[in-house]
Amino acid sequence: MQEKWSVRLIRLAALFGLVGTILGSHMAGSGSYAFKPIHAHVLLVGWLSVFSWGVFYKIYRVRAVKLVSVHGWAAIIGSIGLTVGMWLQFLQPFNINSTVALIFYIVGGSILLIAFALFVLMTFLIDRTESR
Ligand code: HEM
Ligand code: HEM
Repeated sequence: MQEKWSVRLIRLAALFGLVGTILGSHMAGSGSYAFKPIHAHVLLVGWLSVFSWGVFYKIYRVRAVKLVSVHGWAAIIGSIGLTVGMWLQFLQPFNINSTVALIFYIVGGSILLIAFALFVLMTFLIDRTESR
């Protein structure tokens, strides 16, 4: 279970890394920094944080196996929700309805917050007899 989540989170992080650096290159090339907060969150939340969670599950065994899936899904939905929501909210692409954009952003950000809180719990649920 942990092995599966580790690989899943690391793959998602890799995709975020690619999208984030493409956004950075786009900003540098175009000279327009409108994407700066999106670029920053895609890379710091999506690439660095999600990658760290993936590596954590590879290194440590945790005692609450079912909670790994809950945290994993919160990480996936929260990281994508916050970054996409922020993009919709800050840049309002495709003339998107501003209420829809705001809800996306708030729900995404809140689920991400839950993922970070669950991770605190996970660090206290490490199985010390089986850490590798
Ligand atoms: C292809 C690689 C990258 C390019 C071309 C790029 C480009 C940029 C540009 C043009 C800015 C705006 C700078 C400004 O406001 O003056 C920026 C900001 C930022 N970049 Fe990147 N970046 C790249 C990779 C990364 C990576 C790998 C990370 C982190 C893992 C990162 C994190 C950030 C952060 C946090 C900011 C916001 C800094 C602030 O608040 O002023 N970038 N980047
Ligand atoms: C619930 C999740 C989060 C929300 C709702 C949130 C929201 C925000 C907002 C509103 C800003 C100001 C953006 C602007 O007006 O330019 C910001 C900036 C920033 N946040 Fe977050 N953030 C969250 C999580 C994180 C996390 C987890 C990290 C790092 C791992 C992070 C790193 C940053 C950085 C580096 C900036 C400055 C970026 C810039 O200069 O454009 N944030 N965040």
